[in-house]
Amino acid sequence: HRDLHSFPTRRSSDLVLGSGQFGNVHYGTMAETGQPVAVKTLKSDCQARTYIKSLLIEIKILSYVGPHDHIVKLIGANTSRLAQGQVSLYVEYLQLGDLENYLRGMRDNFVDCTSAEAKTGSKNTSKYLQFNDLNPDSQIRTCNLFLWSVQVAAAMEFLGSKKIIHGDLATRNILLLNKTCAKITDFGLAKQLYAYDTNYIKSAKNTPVPWRSMAIESLREMCFSPESDIWSFGVTLWEIFTLGDLPYTAGVQFSMDFVEQLQEIGRAHV
Ligand code: ADE
Repeated sequence: HRDLHSFPTRRSSDLVLGSGQFGNVHYGTMAETGQPVAVKTLKSDCQARTYIKSLLIEIKILSYVGPHDHIVKLIGANTSRLAQGQVSLYVEYLQLGDLENYLRGMRDNFVDCTSAEAKTGSKNTSKYLQFNDLNPDSQIRTCNLFLWSVQVAAAMEFLGSKKIIHGDLATRNILLLNKTCAKITDFGLAKQLYAYDTNYIKSAKNTPVPWRSMAIESLREMCFSPESDIWSFGVTLWEIFTLGDLPYTAGVQFSMDFVEQLQEIGRAHV
């Protein structure tokens, strides 16, 4: 990528690719090359320091990490209007969007290759295989789920080797280039351990947290480490193989009671 501070792009549309509490991701194209990009900016009413900081951390970490086949590619950033609270991050555009929504949208087109029906191969008994024969491109199969899982694991191993904690791994933060290539994105809660003489980091208690995919020690003490990323990877696998279900029951609210229950369940299984 080129000069990180004043990157020339043209935001070509108001097409919103994703919208969080604090930021938006728009579709755009590069001014010179026409290359499609995803442009991440803060919402105009969210220019509080923590959110600006999280976008700056994302820029810093993505440029430090360097390229990997299964990590979203940094294209550039614009911090020239930082004093006015405006920061933009440009990453490659991945056309199938985020894995959480993709999986939910593909529930009717999923072929479970582990089911008895799929294994028999009998056209009369398997609605899956008949549909598959007619229109294979509109489907996903168990092997896609395995492939994405292995790719995410490889990207996480790479981050670990660079002493980076992602801090927010979940299917909503995985993007699909196509049905055989997944990439990790959203490094706003990432942390660089190399900067500290320790294997874990304690984050500020008042920052908003993705509690459904957080490890017990992260929930209890805001303590993040490569091991807490592995917990989130486990939750991510669960999300992938349930085709995008929400971890825990939908009505569950975050509370210290919930954390206690989680800890009890953990104790019962050791
Ligand atoms: N949604 C969020 N980031 C995206 C990206 N880089 N490409 C496509 N959709 C996205």
